[in-house]
Amino acid sequence: MKVLTVGGGAREHTIVKALSEDGAEIYAAMGNKNPGISRLSEEYLLESGSEIEKVVDWGEEKGVEMAVVGPEAPLGQGIVDALEEKGIRCASPNQAAAKIETSKEFMRDLQSRYDLPGRVEYRTFDNIEDIEDFLSHYEGELAVKPVGLTGGKGVKVMGEHLDNKKEVIDYCEKVLEEEIGGKPRLVLEERLKGEEYTLQVFTDGENLIPMPLVQDHKRLFEGDEGPNTGGMGSYSQADGLLPFLDQSVYDQSVEIIRKTLEALKDDGRPYKGVLYGQFMLTAEGPKIVEFNCRWGDPEAMNVLPLLKTNYVDLCEKIAEGNISDIDVTFENKSSVCKYVVPEGYGVDPDGGHKVDVDERSIEDEGAQLYFASVDEKDGEIYTTTSRAMAVVGYSEELEDAEATSERALDHVKGDKIQMRHDIGKPESIKRKMDNMKKIRGENS
Ligand code: AMP
Ligand code: GLY
Repeated sequence: MKVLTVGGGAREHTIVKALSEDGAEIYAAMGNKNPGISRLSEEYLLESGSEIEKVVDWGEEKGVEMAVVGPEAPLGQGIVDALEEKGIRCASPNQAAAKIETSKEFMRDLQSRYDLPGRVEYRTFDNIEDIEDFLSHYEGELAVKPVGLTGGKGVKVMGEHLDNKKEVIDYCEKVLEEEIGGKPRLVLEERLKGEEYTLQVFTDGENLIPMPLVQDHKRLFEGDEGPNTGGMGSYSQADGLLPFLDQSVYDQSVEIIRKTLEALKDDGRPYKGVLYGQFMLTAEGPKIVEFNCRWGDPEAMNVLPLLKTNYVDLCEKIAEGNISDIDVTFENKSSVCKYVVPEGYGVDPDGGHKVDVDERSIEDEGAQLYFASVDEKDGEIYTTTSRAMAVVGYSEELEDAEATSERALDHVKGDKIQMRHDIGKPESIKRKMDNMKKIRGENS
């Protein structure tokens, strides 16, 4: 089957690899030439997906029968609606359903209108006077969130990035004036304390199939220090859980997503594709930090390669609304993903440097390499200002998966690159378990 894919990151390299291994002929639209994707495609178009008409016309001209869209931006712009109008089936949500990610205000309002579990206290503002007035009566700590998309970089949290109310007000002013997230509007919500984790589900709007949990690492530096990034790496466990939570937390998280999908349907926005729940496990249980209308990046690299079910068949079932017809299973393996990024990534990136990547040796180590944003010139790979590539180790035991990812990283060499070696290491896992104990008040 001819399948159109949209997006050029490591997440999309993972999607394309899974589809192509399962028999799809890939027609890939991407803003940058991802060397991994271009090799696996019949043909590719250098368009990011924001030029919806160009991408849709190209897909139609190539005779694609189905589409899978990676990034949120084209989903928010309605690429699925445009593809479906041309009779191309999609395993991704339409614009109305994607609003769960593209408007944080809509998401919080939906949770409150349908009385959904896992919600938080919040209020939406469009002027600084109301914010000042609200803050003069508010005692707790807050998160400041532009309502629209900011690539994971627009949220600032009191006690982490903002020290006091004055800094909160200054940042709110900046969001409103500069229209960060595309609109002069923001959400202030209660600060959640705990450990974050990701639950992704496949859904056709009616039924859902939950995947193994993943924990991402958003901070730039080891020990979870430094600014938030798009994600520096992530791990998952063979049993689908995480070291700091048990089956009951998993079940509660699935229930929160199930009720959210029901609410979306009742709201006239049936959701199909992968729905991503970013959770915080707090002392009161799981709460929703945000929803994403797509696979996570890096979370896709942890779980999609472990899918045993034919991914092309599964996407068809998602698009047709019949996922209960298909048996979905994953290999029982742990995974550790580490991103290689240019020095200064997210702050003042120093890109344009050559990286030597020995792909054969990485595979020989039993790891996978997924390209993200790199330039390929005369057969050589150069960094850009975004994440360059992800290296992922898989094994029954988490420690082995971590060791595999490190051995694989030895085959990536270059100047001005950085990565977080601590992800998935026993000390880092212990810190997370200790934090969770502290949050639960069980002093370790
Ligand atoms: P988001 O773009 O909503 O995922 O936010 C980015 C990051 O900000 C999250 O992964 C959290 O680490 C943090 N964050 C967002 N909302 C909250 C909150 N209410 N309390 C604490 N941290 C938050
Ligand atoms: N891992 C964070 C994201 O995909 O948005």
